[in-house]
Amino acid sequence: AGRSAGARGLRFTPVAPNTDDKVTVPDGYAQSVVIRWGEPILRGAPAFDPDRQTAKAQAGQFGYNNDFLSLLPLRGERGRQVLVANHEYTDEVLMFKGYDPENPTREQAEIAWAAHGLSVVVVQEQHRDGRLTPVTRHPLNRRLTATSEFELTGPAAGGALLRTSADPTGRTVLGTLNNCAGGTTPWGTTLHGEENFNQYFANGSSATDKRYGIGSGTTERKWERFDKRFDVKQEPNEPHRFGWVVELDPYDPDSTPRKRTALGRFKHEAAQPRLTADGRPVVYMGDDERFDYFYKFVSSKRMMKGGSRRAREHNLTLLDEGTLYVAKLTGDSPQDVDGTGRLPNDGEFDGSGHWIPLATGDVSHVPGMTAEEVYVFTRLAGDKVGATKMDRPEDVEPSPRTGRVYVALTNNSNRGKPGQPGADEANPRDLNKHGQILELAEHWDDPASDGFAWRLFLVAGDPDDPATYFAGYPKEKVSPISCPDNVAFDPYGNLWISTDGNRLGSHDGLFGVATQGERRGELKQFLTVPTGAETCGPIIQQRRVLVAVQHPGEVDGASAEKPASHWPDGPGRIVRPSVVAVYRRDGRDIGV
Ligand code: FEO
Ligand code: CA
Ligand code: CA
Ligand code: CA
Repeated sequence: AGRSAGARGLRFTPVAPNTDDKVTVPDGYAQSVVIRWGEPILRGAPAFDPDRQTAKAQAGQFGYNNDFLSLLPLRGERGRQVLVANHEYTDEVLMFKGYDPENPTREQAEIAWAAHGLSVVVVQEQHRDGRLTPVTRHPLNRRLTATSEFELTGPAAGGALLRTSADPTGRTVLGTLNNCAGGTTPWGTTLHGEENFNQYFANGSSATDKRYGIGSGTTERKWERFDKRFDVKQEPNEPHRFGWVVELDPYDPDSTPRKRTALGRFKHEAAQPRLTADGRPVVYMGDDERFDYFYKFVSSKRMMKGGSRRAREHNLTLLDEGTLYVAKLTGDSPQDVDGTGRLPNDGEFDGSGHWIPLATGDVSHVPGMTAEEVYVFTRLAGDKVGATKMDRPEDVEPSPRTGRVYVALTNNSNRGKPGQPGADEANPRDLNKHGQILELAEHWDDPASDGFAWRLFLVAGDPDDPATYFAGYPKEKVSPISCPDNVAFDPYGNLWISTDGNRLGSHDGLFGVATQGERRGELKQFLTVPTGAETCGPIIQQRRVLVAVQHPGEVDGASAEKPASHWPDGPGRIVRPSVVAVYRRDGRDIGV
């Protein structure tokens, strides 16, 4: 059991699309929850009690809506790894019985602040199978929340646009918000994208507030009633202090995490580095909004190898100096792209691209904008230079085998609508429901290059739909997929894709696909998630697959009293976002 044909690493029987309220895994595989929302991880934190939850308890417990996950090695402690998780946002109506959206209490708001942010928790492997369990009260365990201290660094730090009445230095921010996907650096830190931060700020009024989606009225959670910094009328610069990439050193529990202004400010989905031949990190980043852009940052500094204190300190400066670029893509057969998703007459959605520099240190490359403005209002810089408007750039991952960069473009329901941009070769469908995955190859395989070639690797949807494409692989042999969001590589160079918002009528899930060889494009579904949930944070290790099951039970009209999901603990128990490990029943490696 547990084997079938396929590329090495993908030899499992695909899971059929379904709407079951559980995590479904292939035959021969087993699963177990690693950690749930509310499990205590810090010394002194109480056991989870949803009916008597407090902000103080939550600040020592695993946060809500786990998204990005990273697992880092822990030397000297056998069978242990360091798990880092994002907690993107809170679902108050599912968290609190009797929640009144018009009149949230201060305690509810403060619980939500403490349920946002990041968790660091050491996990223990079990020798008999692929299970992982949290090591509570480990000295590296940590919670960072919407009220923890963060430092702004890089060229825009300290500038006038980042100063507030509480922080006249423009260098110290309380909290990180809406941490969606992220990345793991080769120097042993983690990166965390601050995505839809706009939703936390009330009474926006400026043109830049509008470009970033900050509304002019009250917010859904009404935090502005409990802390005036969430009211833009009172603190116009506070939203400028969110929308960054955060860098965390999980090995130093006393360190202050940094918001890296050199990487620009937008709805950062994720950030994944790759090194140049001479050791400089290049970070790829998407701005998850309909018609927004794809970026990269090229550091001017080289990574120092080794674990010395000097090397670690040096490497924590790599993301403060360099050049920020935005992508411009040109199709080689745009006259054939008619918005239906049918392949153009050269047989591929493909073309060339170049990286337009926006700013280097204190020097702006954008006419009419200072460097500080480029960093803080990066979307406006992209608008000015004519960057390519993409179908919601989500997670991005360079292949560790080939260097090719894979960008998940999740969907764009507005493409081709009256007054909106129509299809182009990289975004070839109007009213794009299912999304696509773009494969980018830098010139000379140099991540610092200013030019690249690109092609669409997958055009997602039901394989019976003629507007889908699976890298040329026979469509009758692949799993249906919709709305790719997170991407990760396994140890064999296969791409794994998790989905958010499946528009094919079944639940979201996780898929694996070969990117090289004769099985390139053979997409296979590995698991599905419970009702209302999105599949996040996939990590593909040799012996286990980790997923973050985010927002289970998030269905219109559902509440803590009337749940739409009973996952993971069954009827009568509150639904809880949780991290799940999947492994082979026979103890062997995944997919071999
Ligand atoms: Fe939070 Fe773009 O997904
Ligand atoms: Ca073409
Ligand atoms: Ca996401
Ligand atoms: Ca998403």
